[in-house]
Amino acid sequence: MKTSKLKILAFIALVSSQLINAQKAPQFGKASIDEVIAAMTPEEKVDLLVGPGMPDYAGLVPLEGEPDVRVLGQAGGNSGIERLGIPETVFADGPAGLRIQPKRQNDPNTYYATAFPVGTALASTWNTQLIEEVGKAMGEEVKEYGVDVLLAPALNIHRNPLNGRNFEYYSEDPLVSGKIASAYIKGIQSHDVGTSVKHFAANNQETNRLSVNAHISERAMREIYLRGFEIAVKEAQPWTIMTAYNKINGTYASANEDLLTTVLREEWGYKGMVMTDWFGGYPGFAAINEKGSVSDVIAQMESGNDLLMPGTKAQKEALIKAIKEGTVSEEAINRNLRRILNYILKTPTVANYKYSNQPDLKAHAQVTRNAATEGMVLLKNEEKALPYKDKSGTVALFGNTSYDFIAGGTGSGDVNEAYTVSLLEGLKNAGYSIDQELEKTYVPFVKASTEKEMKRRAEEGLLAAVQRIPEMSLEKAMLAKKAKASEVAVITIGRNAGEQHDRKINDDFYLGQDEVKMINAVSEAFHAEGKKVIVILNIGGVIETASWKDKVDAILLAWQAGQEGGNSVADVFSGEKNPSGKLTMTFPMDYNNQPSAANFPGIPANDPKEVFYKDGIYVGYRYFNTFNVKPSYEFGYGNSYTTFEYSDLKLSESTFDDELEVSVKVTNTGEVAGKEVVQVYVAAPSAMVDKPSEELRAFGKTELLKPGKSQQLKFTLKARDLASFVNEKSAWMAEKGTYTVKIGASSLDIQLTEDFSVENDITVEKVNPAFPLDVPMETLKN
Ligand code: BGC
Repeated sequence: MKTSKLKILAFIALVSSQLINAQKAPQFGKASIDEVIAAMTPEEKVDLLVGPGMPDYAGLVPLEGEPDVRVLGQAGGNSGIERLGIPETVFADGPAGLRIQPKRQNDPNTYYATAFPVGTALASTWNTQLIEEVGKAMGEEVKEYGVDVLLAPALNIHRNPLNGRNFEYYSEDPLVSGKIASAYIKGIQSHDVGTSVKHFAANNQETNRLSVNAHISERAMREIYLRGFEIAVKEAQPWTIMTAYNKINGTYASANEDLLTTVLREEWGYKGMVMTDWFGGYPGFAAINEKGSVSDVIAQMESGNDLLMPGTKAQKEALIKAIKEGTVSEEAINRNLRRILNYILKTPTVANYKYSNQPDLKAHAQVTRNAATEGMVLLKNEEKALPYKDKSGTVALFGNTSYDFIAGGTGSGDVNEAYTVSLLEGLKNAGYSIDQELEKTYVPFVKASTEKEMKRRAEEGLLAAVQRIPEMSLEKAMLAKKAKASEVAVITIGRNAGEQHDRKINDDFYLGQDEVKMINAVSEAFHAEGKKVIVILNIGGVIETASWKDKVDAILLAWQAGQEGGNSVADVFSGEKNPSGKLTMTFPMDYNNQPSAANFPGIPANDPKEVFYKDGIYVGYRYFNTFNVKPSYEFGYGNSYTTFEYSDLKLSESTFDDELEVSVKVTNTGEVAGKEVVQVYVAAPSAMVDKPSEELRAFGKTELLKPGKSQQLKFTLKARDLASFVNEKSAWMAEKGTYTVKIGASSLDIQLTEDFSVENDITVEKVNPAFPLDVPMETLKN
């Protein structure tokens, strides 16, 4: 009797103390953010500032004691604090669409997401309106699957073609990167879910990505490596930003005050939240696994990296200690908490959004199919080999990836889609007959080889790089027979890559011997019969084309085109769609022509610790054009099934005042409807600082123009669009003198030019000196 009475009394005391506590604790969403922060214990603060680790990441079996996550396969999120009413929110990858696990235990439903075209493919559309539509489709999947932030877009500059993640990124040019990213962010965030622009900044290689020290001049930082981020931040206000792994001039990006506070907050006015990349600030995998090892949490907090992801126990302990001992600035801690809480406040989680787990995958399949065709670049089309309309004969289909088309790259940029349409299926869907003998030889070969490769990768674990399946050798007699029996040969060359590894020069950038043999043998046999050979490039980044392009009749750069890839190629192959993509990067004649070749991926070569960006601002076409190095296919290049004429270039005035309007007329002079990407380059005077021969300052795309139809395109150039960064003055300056507007169908194919002048030097913007070099370095000058 007595004990049970005591128990009841104790219970009442507990409940009432909890009630009082709950009443006393200010509740998130009701009380002000500052009141909530003031009520936090150091432990609670750190629970918000450092993520919860990686429970259930990518569907890994949860470890004992790990909490369940809301969305299986999510990459992370913030921890919640129940006492203060702060909820957990969810982050998931990635750039080509939502990356979550498609199946859950004891659950008959599936959670597939749409695999959209990879970054290079999206950017090659040069169509910001279309990219916004893609963003809207992705955003709907993010929201309907209960995710708060998509860890995308990724917009690092293609400094070198071997970067293993170039497929996720957009371009060697910051204007293209920034504009495509802005459109993508606007599309996604129109659903009131967030994005995370990454990897901020200068994450331009995967070799030793966690620790490599990138030495970069302030001018190259501002003009090349930051400019795209600046455009995206100012135009689209991404909810969050993810810092890069690497160091910049000796300081980790995630602890770099110049980057995260001076430039991002003070100069650009960014108001959102900054998180690290996963384990950012740890020098390597060994360190992450080492018990008690921490990143420099104090520097990360104080520099303005609000949230450490995914968070480790040791980081939490170190930060609690620093807060208690007063060795980390309290102001910085509270400022970061404010940004995190302001982010959470905006999320669908807080709005209590009832997600359906049923996004409109059917509609999005159409979106990705169209986006992929529009990003395809027709590199070569001799004697109108394409479109190939004749469906009476058979198509001889060569190359492993024809039968197993690659939808996208590997790693966090990979999507778990329900299906991928191969080229074989795509062509069949479009009504083509495919040589059956070849199909019967290739399909089992590719299947067995793929299984073997998957097994190898599973055994090697997370760090395994992708290996291409070698092409089978093709008998001469068999090819002679095929060339007689089929009407046309299609060869697919495929490449895959992903995070943690850069690509190799041999047998990746350059074709493998097996591939060279295949192209030679198929071309000889088919050309002997007067039949054409069409190459489809199913790749994520640049490969060498100069040595073999003359051997074939047409080359269609299809990229890694998302889950509808085969259908998208078939749409272009058949002429159902007219390709209108153009290159957002240079295809060099030779790897060593690349300005960064001598300084990539750094030194010492076997284990790079330092990488010197001696190429300075001369990245991509800025180098090739200025130094007259002939590329295989230049930046901005791409053919069409129709032809366009440029005319009526007009500038609103001949002396620049505040802004200048450029207008130009584009006419479809060919036989089929088509769209044209129009590029506005500007050549600027260079008395004050050296400059590239021209730089892209604006671009646009016509609507679908019927034959004979024209469209006038208008562009506005502001002083900032004419300016270069002048180090000595810490300012963006537009120099006085004569400028030339060059309207290009590509960066080398300039159609019209017109001059204007600037009467006096214009200081467009004064900034703070930042990113001092940690060791002296000379950079390339014109
Ligand atoms: C990648 C990020 C990604 C994160 C979470 C990192 O390895 O670099 O791009 O968002 O993992 O999966």
